[in-house]
Amino acid sequence: MTLDKLLQSQGFGTRKYCRQLIHDGEVCINGEVVTGFAHHIEAAGLAFTVHGEPWVYREHLYLALHKPSNFECSRKASHHPGVLTLLPEQFLWRDLQPVGRLDHDTTGLLLLSDDGAFIHAQSSPKRHVPKVYEATTQEPVTDALVQQFLDGIQLIDEPQPIAAQHARMLDAQRIEIILEQGKYHQVKRMLAAAGNHCAALRRTAIGGLTLATLGLQAGEWCYLEAEQLALLGNASM
Ligand code: URA
Repeated sequence: MTLDKLLQSQGFGTRKYCRQLIHDGEVCINGEVVTGFAHHIEAAGLAFTVHGEPWVYREHLYLALHKPSNFECSRKASHHPGVLTLLPEQFLWRDLQPVGRLDHDTTGLLLLSDDGAFIHAQSSPKRHVPKVYEATTQEPVTDALVQQFLDGIQLIDEPQPIAAQHARMLDAQRIEIILEQGKYHQVKRMLAAAGNHCAALRRTAIGGLTLATLGLQAGEWCYLEAEQLALLGNASM
């Protein structure tokens, strides 16, 4: 791949703009300024800098974000800033998208990618990837509430009650719920249907990938490497 094409593929701008960056001496490989864009470069694993900032070539992006409250997951956010504003600007040029959605007031683990096959596989209802939620409730969490989640809760518009894969009381007003589905406002609607109310919601894990092991603070993101992606199950990459 030529250097201008490589930079374009990484979201640094149009081919013309990338050629200008190279021409202006803003691109370094192995600490050396590269001013020619036409020679071929081995893209895989290439480390380079643009405006002095280090990057590594990635054919696709697989990211984890600790979503803060008051950010929307849609690409065209309307009432709150979008989660993509928390990421480097050039990722937007790569058609990066959230994998599924969290409500604007839900915090926690959110995956993002520009790999359509991965997004599709991760979002497929057939995959049954468990997602772990920690809900703070308005009313106390009781054994009966936990049992309702385990037995199944009937939601309007659903043909049959939906049961959590697992549920447990964390403390007087917090319940952990593991769901395999990703229905609209599912946790909040299940809590309301069970006679309680969700005061705050956080997603702590997707499959075996946990926010705690990623060590991300609210608003922080990281790349997901092969071993972390493997924890998500058998999504195609
Ligand atoms: N369930 C909800 O109610 N909201 C979310 O954001 C995720 C799951």
